Amino acid sequence: MARLFFLLSGEHETLPASELKAILQTEGYVFTTLEKLDQALRIEADLRCIEAIRSRAALTRLCGLEMVYCKADTNKILKSMRSINLKRVLKEGEGFAVRIKRVKNYSPEIQGMALERRLGKVILDKAEKAKVDLEKPDKVFLGVLTEEKLILGQKLGEISPKSFVERRPRKKPFFHPSAMPPKLARCMVNLARPKVGELVFDPFCGTGSMLIEAALIDCHVLGLDIQKRMVKGSLENFAYFNINSEGIIVADARDPPIARTDCVVTDPPYGRSATTFRRTTAQLVKEVLMAASALLKKGQRVCIAAPKTLEIQHTGTTLGYKHLESHFVYVHRSLTREIAVFEKV
Ligand SMILES: C[S@@+](CC[C@H](N)C(=O)[O-])C[C@H]1O[C@@H](n2cnc3c(N)ncnc32)[C@H](O)[C@@H]1O
Repeated sequence: MARLFFLLSGEHETLPASELKAILQTEGYVFTTLEKLDQALRIEADLRCIEAIRSRAALTRLCGLEMVYCKADTNKILKSMRSINLKRVLKEGEGFAVRIKRVKNYSPEIQGMALERRLGKVILDKAEKAKVDLEKPDKVFLGVLTEEKLILGQKLGEISPKSFVERRPRKKPFFHPSAMPPKLARCMVNLARPKVGELVFDPFCGTGSMLIEAALIDCHVLGLDIQKRMVKGSLENFAYFNINSEGIIVADARDPPIARTDCVVTDPPYGRSATTFRRTTAQLVKEVLMAASALLKKGQRVCIAAPKTLEIQHTGTTLGYKHLESHFVYVHRSLTREIAVFEKV
């Protein structure tokens, strides 16, 4: 077991840490949460879990192996760093860099670049045969300043936002204003906890955002939409990203023509940019949750979004699901989404 730390996205208060924990659970990693700080999470887990986070997470930015955790006080930080054995981290001749990331405005009295330089000097004193290389370092020492604390260690991974930017709704060949942003879609897929090779089903697939994100983490995907033009559009988007699906069907989510799935990830229409075809969103949520229950085995999950005002956690529990978690995402003045995760019991 190793002490690991993660710099989380500031895009949402609760989703990044929940997504990260959901990925660890999905991949079967036992872990202990040491501390949740503002935009940072410290855990104890098998080092190999970093690969799973790197390949799946949307809302984690950086991962590191913790070496120092102390009060954000320059003297304390330097003293702690001097007591670290760097032999196993820095080999002879290797180049290194120190990078300090500050969450929000924490510890303004500490100047990031000055601390980077002073830590670099301590490292050079301890590992004489290493050298500073700011361009292409072999090893990066990453420090995160948050809540008047510093977490410092060897950087193990970075999740680039680039690929998510490339999949923004307007960058896809088929666009519709109801499309889910790719990071949120990926996060919802992760919260439903599908393993590689399992089937992810979206009964309101629209432009295919959820299924594209699920396919990119090597899940099988199946979707349906009541509108033929949306099904055609989804297929166009799939082709653009080289994604194969088990099928995209023109059908009604309330009566899906399928026998089983491993999980459901979906965003029903709210009657604004996406039509509900004379049903209310509340009715659709209820009916699709009922239909999904017949497709899932015990312990499998549904991750569903809906306007907060509908209180879908009550809908799910009334239908016999176990409510695992809910997150509230502000969209604009008249819409806050609830993202709820339910487990079939
Ligand atoms: C909010 S949009 C889904 C957006 C999708 N998550 C995306 O990112 O593109 C809801 C979709 O549900 C479809 N829809 C509405 N009523 C439906 C029903 N009864 N069964 C299946 N699809 C339905 C609409 O055509 C619309 O494409």
